[in-house]
Amino acid sequence: MTADLIFPPGFRWGVSTSAYQIEGAVAEGGRGPSTWDTFCAEPGRILNGDTGEVACDHYHRYAEDVALMRELGVDTYRFSFSWPRIQPSGRGPAVAAGMDFYDRLIDTLLGAGIQPAPTLFHWDTPQALEDAGGWLSRDITDRFAEYASLVGARFADRVPMWMTINEPMVLTLMGYSLGAHAPGKELVFDALPVAHHQLLAHGRAVQALRAAGATQIGIASNHAPTWPASDSPEDKEAAALYDNLINWLFADPILLGEYPNGMGDAMPGPVADDLAIISTPLDFFGINHYAPVSVGVATGHADTAATDGVLLPPGLPFEPRTLTGYPTTDFGWPVVPDAFGEILRIFKERYGDRLPPIYITENGCAINDEPVDGVVSDQRRIDYLDGYLRSLRAAMDDGIDVRGYFQWSLMDNFEWAAGYSQRFGLVHVDFKTQERTPKASYHWLRDLIAQSRA
Ligand code: NOJ
Repeated sequence: MTADLIFPPGFRWGVSTSAYQIEGAVAEGGRGPSTWDTFCAEPGRILNGDTGEVACDHYHRYAEDVALMRELGVDTYRFSFSWPRIQPSGRGPAVAAGMDFYDRLIDTLLGAGIQPAPTLFHWDTPQALEDAGGWLSRDITDRFAEYASLVGARFADRVPMWMTINEPMVLTLMGYSLGAHAPGKELVFDALPVAHHQLLAHGRAVQALRAAGATQIGIASNHAPTWPASDSPEDKEAAALYDNLINWLFADPILLGEYPNGMGDAMPGPVADDLAIISTPLDFFGINHYAPVSVGVATGHADTAATDGVLLPPGLPFEPRTLTGYPTTDFGWPVVPDAFGEILRIFKERYGDRLPPIYITENGCAINDEPVDGVVSDQRRIDYLDGYLRSLRAAMDDGIDVRGYFQWSLMDNFEWAAGYSQRFGLVHVDFKTQERTPKASYHWLRDLIAQSRA
C-alpha cells in the first residue's frame, strides 16, 4: 500500500514529545512548580480536572520509551527539557538531579542509536518567573539566555540538534491573549509583548547555545495556511490580518529581521536592536503543522468548533470559521493533506534563499481508538499519515529542502486544556496502569521508515 512512498537517503525520522505532557514526577528531583502545575490546580481549567502530575510517568519509564522508539526505527527523538526541573525558580545554578535525569535520557538515546533533539522551552515556565511578570516582562529574556547557557554547557558535547522554543504563537495566543492555556491571562492584543519577548529569548538562546559549542540550532514554530472564508474583499482582509498574526509575526522577525506590516510598532523595547538578535541565522527552521484555518470577518456568532472550544472576545476584526467538507480528527481538526505542501510552498515563496533547511518538528492527529483484545486498529491515523506524508514528499519533489519528519507523538499524553481526552500517540497509554501498546499506525510507520532506508 505504501510501496511508492519513499524518502531520500539521510532523511531523518523522529517522534516528538514535551516534558510536561509526559514526564510526571512533578515533585521529584527538586523540580520547582511551573505555570502548568498552577493552571491545572485551578478548578475548571482542564477537562475532567486532569493534570500532568503523573502523565506517562516517563521520568521513571524513559528506558522503556526509548526501547519503543528504537523498535519503531526512528533516528531522532524530539523532547523538551523542563526548565523548572533544571532551575526550579528559573534562575541560579542548575539542580543536579534535574540535569542527571536528562543525562540518563540522552545517554540511553545515544546507546540506542537515536539522536537527542531537545527543545529548551515547551510552555512550562517556572512559576517564580511568571510571578515576576512571565513573558510579559523583558527580564525573562535574561533568564532564558542563562538557562540556555547552562544546558548548552552540560549537553552540547552529546546533543547534535537543538530547538529553542516550541510554538511561540500558541503561548502568546492561548496563554496570554485568550487564557485557555497557562498562565490563563486574557489580554487580547495586549499579549503582543509576549511574542516579542519569546522571539528575543529565542535569539539570545541561539547565541548562548552556539557560545557553548552547540551546532544545528533551530526553533519549532507552528504554521498553517490561512484561507479566506469567501472571496469577498472583507473576508480576504480579515484572513490576511489573521495570517500576519499567527504566521508571519513569528517567522518574519527570525527569517527576515523585520515584523510584518509595521507590527513592530506594537512591540516594547529597542525593537530594531532586538530584531538583529532575533534574526541570528539558524541551521534549520522547524515547522509544526496540523491543519489550515479558515478566517472571515466577525459575524458575532460564536463558532467555537473552529477555536478548540475557546470563546473569542467580542470586537475582533476577524473570526476563525469551521472548515467544512473535510474529514476531521477526534479533536475536530480538519484533515487536509494538501495544506501541508501548501504551507511549505508558501514558506519557500516568502523567504526564498533566506529559508534554511526545514524540519517538520511536529505533525499528527488525535484519533482516540482504544485497544480491543490488545490491538489498537487506528486506521484513520494511518490514513492521515499516508496523506500528509505524500503531500510532504510532493513538496520535496518541488524543490523544498525538508530534512526530516518528527511525528507528534510517540505516545498518548497530556493534551493541555483537553487533558487526557485526546490521544495523539503512535503508542497507546493506559493511564491507569501505564501500560504501553503500540498501535497499528506504529507498525505502519515502522514499515515505511524501513522501506525508505532499504
Ligand atoms: C502542538 C504542541 O506543540 C503540542 O504540545 C501539542 O500536544 C500538539 N501540538 C497537539 O495539539
